[in-house]
Amino acid sequence: QKHLLGIKDITRQDIELIFETADNFKDVINRPIKKVPSLRDVTVANVFFENSTRTRLSFELAQKRLSADVINFSASNSSVKKGETLLDTVNNILAMKVDMIVMRHASPGAPHYLSRHIKANIVNAGDGTHEHPTQALLDTFSIREKLGGVEGKKIAIIGDILHSRVALSNIFALQKLGAKVMVCGPPTLLPKYIAQLGVQVELDVMKALQWCDVANVLRIQLERQQIKYFPSLREYSLYYGITKKILDSLKKQIVIMHPGPINRGVELSSDAADSHHSIILDQVENGVAVRMAVMYLLAGQI
Ligand code: CP
Repeated sequence: QKHLLGIKDITRQDIELIFETADNFKDVINRPIKKVPSLRDVTVANVFFENSTRTRLSFELAQKRLSADVINFSASNSSVKKGETLLDTVNNILAMKVDMIVMRHASPGAPHYLSRHIKANIVNAGDGTHEHPTQALLDTFSIREKLGGVEGKKIAIIGDILHSRVALSNIFALQKLGAKVMVCGPPTLLPKYIAQLGVQVELDVMKALQWCDVANVLRIQLERQQIKYFPSLREYSLYYGITKKILDSLKKQIVIMHPGPINRGVELSSDAADSHHSIILDQVENGVAVRMAVMYLLAGQI
């Protein structure tokens, strides 16, 4: 593969190769000397048209650990504000002899469009409500690490599925790896096509929590809501908010995940987010090794 545009486009074997490569890089970045020369002479541009903390910093750190040269572009303080197009922006960056583009964009399909017009490798770092492939890879890598595998495990994705690129990429990755997938949320935040993806649909969060081995809890994405959705944040927290008291009331131990940023007190209480159930910061740690693996494998195609 020349690009990583979405999990939909890759195979179980591709995911397993990324995981095995990430295992090696995780060993590397836990050593006193954390850098390897694998991407020396490769130049990567992180091109972000939307805000990010974890994804942008994690890609940048992964590139630096691989000894790549890195430039960072943020649309909010760029000539995009003067009307420059996406393609002109990226072609100007590529004219500086850049080999790989990591891009986040608010429009679903933006990296796919770019892939038809430029020669450089592209990694999708999140395209609107569509896909966030490296998030799904680090999420499934973290489940594999915590539970010893993904095959046969029951994963509930809980929250604003309608506006979530994390949900779609996770569904594709989990299904390819043989997990059982449930989505849970208020009916207004579930897309109409969701059952066609072969997932179980549950409206009752207690039933979802009682069913699953892992709950991947998602944020209500107010920034993507064109109209005011029911429920409000207060109502969501009341009916779907997960607290440590709820987790302790379950008959079994479950693992809590969240891609971040957390809206503390809405989808997760602080005592749940910071409890022994949570592997949220392990997900962030694993993101660096997984992104190193993705870029190392794509650079083999340069
Ligand atoms: N998980 C995630 O994509 O977080 P950021 O928006 O901070 O990158």
